Amino acid sequence: MRDRSQLQAAGQPFTFDAERNDEFERLCTRYPIRESMIMPALWLAQEQQGWISAEVIEYIAERLDTYPAKVYELATFYTMYHLRPVGTYHICVCRTLSCYLRDKQEIVDFITDEIGIKPGQVSEDGRFSLEEVECLGHCGTAPVVQINGEFHEEMNVEKLKAVLAHLD
Ligand code: FES
Repeated sequence: MRDRSQLQAAGQPFTFDAERNDEFERLCTRYPIRESMIMPALWLAQEQQGWISAEVIEYIAERLDTYPAKVYELATFYTMYHLRPVGTYHICVCRTLSCYLRDKQEIVDFITDEIGIKPGQVSEDGRFSLEEVECLGHCGTAPVVQINGEFHEEMNVEKLKAVLAHLD
């Protein structure tokens, strides 16, 4: 589980835009138990704002008629939810057993040396952010890196250099 103190305020109220609101209403028809909607609602909010702020937690709790603590516990448990703004390219390095044993640290160290960010940080130009996450579900091809949702398996420093070189 992540450090729960990471949750930040955006400083302005959050509401779904028209497109996400329509999708939220559509999803509500599929979830008779309102609290089951917390995760998809968090996902919609993250799609819109790029991250989950304290205001998002409050907003979703209100829309789903539940307690902010319930929204908070899900948002802080799953590393797929970003509790602070991330870079244009969000690099997730799996830190769980298979990836750990197959040198995920070499990849993390390379990113820290090359880009200058440690896990939990965003580069000064806002281009990259780095996070160590729990198992990405591709343990047989460890170590695994996910960049903006795209999986890169059997990763090593040379492969990562090539991937980074092809980013815009
Ligand atoms: S341990 Fe890294 S993908 Fe499962």
